[in-house]
Formats: sequence, C-alpha cells, structure tokens
Amino acid sequence: MAMVSMRQLLDEAAKGGYGVGAFNVNNMEQIQAIMEAARETKSPVIVQASRGARGYTNDRFLYHLMLAATELYPEIPIALHQDHGNSPETCISAIEMGFTSVMMDGSLMPDGKTPADFEYNVRVTREVVEIAHARGVTVEGELGCLGGIEDGHGADVDALAHLTDPDEAVEFVERTGIDALAVAIGTSHGAYKFTKKPTGEVLVMSRIEEINRKLPNTHLVMHGSSSVPKELIDMINKYGGKIKETYGVPVEEIQRGIRHGVRKINVDTDNRLAMTAAVRKVLFEKPEEFDLRGYMKPAREAMKEVVKARMISFGQAGNAGYAPIPLEQMAQKYREQPVTA
Ligand code: G3H
Ligand code: 13P
Ligand code: ZN
Repeated sequence: MAMVSMRQLLDEAAKGGYGVGAFNVNNMEQIQAIMEAARETKSPVIVQASRGARGYTNDRFLYHLMLAATELYPEIPIALHQDHGNSPETCISAIEMGFTSVMMDGSLMPDGKTPADFEYNVRVTREVVEIAHARGVTVEGELGCLGGIEDGHGADVDALAHLTDPDEAVEFVERTGIDALAVAIGTSHGAYKFTKKPTGEVLVMSRIEEINRKLPNTHLVMHGSSSVPKELIDMINKYGGKIKETYGVPVEEIQRGIRHGVRKINVDTDNRLAMTAAVRKVLFEKPEEFDLRGYMKPAREAMKEVVKARMISFGQAGNAGYAPIPLEQMAQKYREQPVTA
C-alpha cells in the first residue's frame, strides 16, 4: 500500500474510538520492528522521524527504507511523519522528501528550546498548513510546552507552568486549520519524567478532558508518552547500565486520554530502553560476540514486543483493514474546506 496521510489514520481512529502509536525510528531495525508488530497485530502505523533521525539516517536512506516497508507490508496503512519540525523549512523539506505528515512545533522557537509566543506559533503553523494541505499532507501543531531538554528537543521549563490553555487551544485550531493538536499536560521527553508514580497533580489528564470538551472534533496528541517500564530499567542496570529510578506515563492514563480524544501517542524512549537492554544482555553474557546480528536481532525483537504491546493497549490492533485515500484526494478535501479564521 502507498503511504497514506496521517489524517486518514486519525480519522479512522476517531471513528473506531482508539489511539494510534507514533513510533520514532533511526535505522532499519526499528522500522522492521514496527512493521512486524503491525503485521502481527493487524495495526495501522505512524512511523516518525525527528530532525536528529533525519540527520543520522540521511533522508534518502530513510525514505527508501520506508518505501521498502510499503512494498513488503502492502496490507498495512503507513503514515510517515516529521516529528517536532522546528521551522517551516524543516517541514517543507520533509514534504518534498515524501513524508505524508509533518509536525510544525511552533510552541518553541527554531532552536527547539525557547518557548515561543502564541502569535508566532499561529503564524508558522498556518504557513505550514497552507503548503502541506495543498499536497494532501497532514499537519500536527503544538500548544503549550513539554518539560525537559533531555532529548535535545523541549524547553528547559517547568512543564506544569506551560500546560495547554483550553481556550487558547480553540483559537489556535481555528486560526491554523491543523489536523491534530499536541497538548502539554505535564509530560516530558526521555526517561526522566516523574520521580514517583504520577498523580493527577503532575500528569494532568483532566486538562485533556477539558480540551476535548471544547474541541470534540480535533484529534489530540500526547507527546512524551513512554511508560518507562521498570523491568527494562532493571535489565539495563543488571547488565552494566546506569539508569536512575524513574517513572513514565502509565498505559492506563493513556487509555483514559484515548477515551477523551487522544488519537496519536508518541513513544520513543520505551523502544530505546528495550533495544539497549537487549544489546547489553547479549554483550554481557557473551563477551566474545562481535557479529552485530548477534545483538541487533534480539534488540529488534525486544522493540517489536514493546510496540506490539502498545498497539494492543492503544486499540489500534485489528484496525488495518481500510483502503488508502490518495494524497491528491485529501488535497481536494482541504480545498473544499479552506481555513477562513
Ligand atoms: O522528540 C523526541 C523524540 O524522542 C526524538 O528524539 O530528537 O533524540 O531523535 P531525538
Ligand atoms: P518519549 O520520550 O516519552 O518516548 O516521547 C517521545 C515523543 O514525544 C516524540 O515526539
Ligand atoms: Zn515529542
């Protein structure tokens, strides 16, 4: 199946009342892990690449790996998404490369760290919407800021001081015409999100419910949604790693979000942890190993298991069976409903 717009995946998810995991990739094994998990669970998939990932792989390698995925897994609807585009230029280059969805993260300035003001965010996001929608490509915007700069993207701010304001969210969606809105509810990127199992005071799920009440037809996105399983941290540490005690976003909280309009859930860290734990185990137990397949295969398998578990928990499993809408047809739909605000 050709790559499809993320909007189609999210519209289907809204109809079915489920969420779709968006998994970050940096190499072939991660793409393979996601596609195998999708096949085994019959799930539609969002594969996403950060700016760092695009730099690491080189765009052409990434694009051709994704084309291979469409050839080898023709039964799976796949959206290729730019994660945290820092400027219209980044989003445009992704669209030109063949991405079917982009995130214009105008909640931060182009340095990816400094919180931006509302008018700047509206302006750059709207600019990307106009360019992307003309080609049938989906746009995700973000309002509010995640905490932490651990993964190179995110403001070095207290996440709770920058939660998404529900009234601003309504105005933002109206003025930009975005397809999906990433909301800030107290999460941050990376492994160190919470120092204990999060309560509603630090992981503010009620904010999603408020936003959903005001914007019932907008697809909401949860970033920083890794659950940081203790068993993966323990395994890394058992085999020589040094990860401090930490807590992520419990899957039950994500499921609560899905009941209130969350359709896209971003997960990267859990897969990094799973692959690292598997590699460490092999290298610890077999110090003589130097064939990279000896540790990359278990790493790929470990990521596949995490992705499968998320696909089942988010409800996307069993929902791959729909026909693709060509991007040209998506562009036509957007032309019929222009943003007028
Ligand atoms: O946005 C955060 C994702 O985990 C991607 O991280 O920028 O290190 O590739 P990255
Ligand atoms: P995690 O670091 O929680 O996996 O979040 C990933 C993310 O939000 C990518 O945009
Ligand atoms: Zn993110």
